[in-house]
Amino acid sequence: MSGFVTYCEDREKQTVAARMSGFYTVQDAPADSPVLAIGNTWSRRWFDGDFYRSDTAHPEILVTSLVFVQSKEGNTVAPDPSTLGGGETDKHLVYEGLSRIDADGVMAGAATARSERMVFSIWHPELVALRLERGHSRHPAQIVVTGRGDVPIESGLMFNEPSLRVFVITRSGMAGALRQRVGDRAWVEVIDAGEPVSLKTAMRELRQRGMRVISCVGGRTLATAMLREHLITDLYLTTSPIEAGEPNTPFYEGPPLTLTQMVEKAGKGDEAGVRFEHLVVR
Ligand SMILES: NC(=O)c1ccc[n+]([C@@H]2O[C@H](COP(=O)([O-])OP(=O)(O)OC[C@H]3O[C@@H](n4cnc5c(N)ncnc54)[C@H](OP(=O)(O)O)[C@@H]3O)[C@@H](O)[C@H]2O)c1
Repeated sequence: MSGFVTYCEDREKQTVAARMSGFYTVQDAPADSPVLAIGNTWSRRWFDGDFYRSDTAHPEILVTSLVFVQSKEGNTVAPDPSTLGGGETDKHLVYEGLSRIDADGVMAGAATARSERMVFSIWHPELVALRLERGHSRHPAQIVVTGRGDVPIESGLMFNEPSLRVFVITRSGMAGALRQRVGDRAWVEVIDAGEPVSLKTAMRELRQRGMRVISCVGGRTLATAMLREHLITDLYLTTSPIEAGEPNTPFYEGPPLTLTQMVEKAGKGDEAGVRFEHLVVR
């Protein structure tokens, strides 16, 4: 059996075995909100209602969400982000689930995507079914942003699985060297996004390749750049009730953001104190 098949089976098993407590609704999206509802009977039970995403964006900009978990004091960096205390519902239902149902691609900075065994996808069978019902491929495209080209093309799982579509976004001066490393992996494409990388250019190039909805999963370096370039439409932010993570590592540093809260959920049972917010970025 291929390494990728085993990886997918393991991820599915872990997700199905996860002990989620579920969320309850503190605030739901107003009825006339310009958002699209996503959900099935199973997800509505755990999420306590529909999940939403922006439906329209500027014609040149994709519908791009940013998904983050932060500790009580707003830290986001930890070797294993699950130690930040967001809980299993956030991880399996939101992060590796509802936020990716419609995603044509999942986008990450090189530090977040550097692990040898990493594929950004959806794993719970109920959520996989929802994604397929909505007409999407089994796995979203993998989109990695790098300036220095420090990505494990030769050995990383996502770069060596022909059934995936992979985009490596880099600066002009690095594109040639990366294309050489990619070699005959026809499923991996290097996108030259200018010198230095312009994420606006990158998003335009992704749009030309059929991408419409992107889930950006950070880390904070990429998130800050995306927000500063006004490329994020929705922010899915989970705040844990515990102090954790590396100090002074907020998901964003820059001019104040204009955020409108669309949805607020709270954790139940073992996950009491966890707060999930869907914020629309203006
Ligand atoms: N709390 C959460 O939800 C969450 C989410 C994701 C990650 N994390 C954690 O955050 C940490 C990583 O944080 P990070 O800020 O270092 O991660 P990151 O944004 O994933 O990666 C930073 C790297 O991505 C590339 N990059 C990002 N923006 C770029 C741009 N505009 N232009 C060119 N290259 C760009 C660069 O790669 P090169 O160095 O190759 O040039 C840069 O060094 C890890 O501990 C991870 O576990 C937490």
